[in-house]
Amino acid sequence: MKALILVGGFGTRLRPLTLSVPKPLVDFANKPMILHQIEALKAVGVTEVVLAINYQPEVMLNFLKEFETKLGIKITCSQETEPLGTAGPLALARDKLIDDSGEPFFVLNSDVISEYPFKEIIKFHKSHGGEASIMVTKVDEPSKYGVVVMEESTGQVEKFVEKPKIFVGNKINAGIYLLDPSVLDRIQLRPTSIEKEVFPKIAAEKKLYAMVLPGFWMDIGQPRDYITGLRLYLDSLRKKSSSKLAVGAHIVGNVLVDETSKIGEGCLIGPDVAIGPGCVVESGVRLSRCTIMRGVRVKKHACISSSIIGWHSTVGQWARVENMTILGEDVHVCDEIYSNGGVVLPHKEIKSSILKPEIVM
Ligand code: GDD
Ligand code: MG
Repeated sequence: MKALILVGGFGTRLRPLTLSVPKPLVDFANKPMILHQIEALKAVGVTEVVLAINYQPEVMLNFLKEFETKLGIKITCSQETEPLGTAGPLALARDKLIDDSGEPFFVLNSDVISEYPFKEIIKFHKSHGGEASIMVTKVDEPSKYGVVVMEESTGQVEKFVEKPKIFVGNKINAGIYLLDPSVLDRIQLRPTSIEKEVFPKIAAEKKLYAMVLPGFWMDIGQPRDYITGLRLYLDSLRKKSSSKLAVGAHIVGNVLVDETSKIGEGCLIGPDVAIGPGCVVESGVRLSRCTIMRGVRVKKHACISSSIIGWHSTVGQWARVENMTILGEDVHVCDEIYSNGGVVLPHKEIKSSILKPEIVM
């Protein structure tokens, strides 16, 4: 089977992290977002992944070369010269997606995290005889997503409304699809939205089916959702393979620590923390609800909560970093500094406190 991942976009909502790498390569739970997806696709027998991309394809491919061999899966790029939206890229990659087998193929939004119940969607797709299957999930605030109205017992979609202005329902498109090759005949090679132009038509012909996604789901394309997503991911890891989580007197709740990182004496870490490879957390540090990316040093008695610390940054001793502070790559926060929601661009040194949420250029 084949899969296409919609990678496009500049990932502006995850700046400053996306100033260093394309969004799908931003680490989530100690692994680039896109690797979570590729590994899960591989596990259900996908042999080729096509990345639909309109920005920095070399960076992506160079990075993923290593994983092609490691995972034994073919990874190719389909590059747009102008952004083709969420459907146009499928037309562009048509030849890569279709083969003699006539099998359906996966399409994924690159910024969604879940348990990727691909086996379940394959089974569902075979069972209903429609042309397209999509996964849906319930959310409290449906207006920022694609809303799906479906017949509960069969899953047949009655209506698909992208970003509705008035309340239509609370089941939303989770950005995970399994499509028959015939769907490609409905898409022209031009900027097109699968949500606005393709799904509503298939639904009108009663050939679009939706299945409620089991387990957790989050679009992690924004810092607040990224931090919530980490909590949900770690909760699910606790249930599925708790041996991957850290244990010890200094650990509270769910914490993921790369084995190459060092943690000093008298720290208190958790809940909902991910510490990437090669980090040094000195003694007496307090970490909660945060991500510490590869190569970061957190100096003595620093306190970090609800924040993301980008690659190779340093947080000085007695510093307090909180409330959705996002440090880009290689940022240095001096000793005793307070950051309340600072969003700091890469390679900066922070010498004075950031008292209210703001972007530091
Ligand atoms: N190749 C390519 N070209 N990819 C694109 C383009 C493009 O021009 N535009 C967007 N994408 C990719 C994004 O990188 C992302 O992976 C995916 O398409 C969806 O785009 P977003 O910008 O993240 O859309 P959204 O989050 O507002 O809404 C979408 O996702 C929701 C679930 O998170 C829609 O699919 C909604 O219906 C859905 O509920
Ligand atoms: Mg999104």
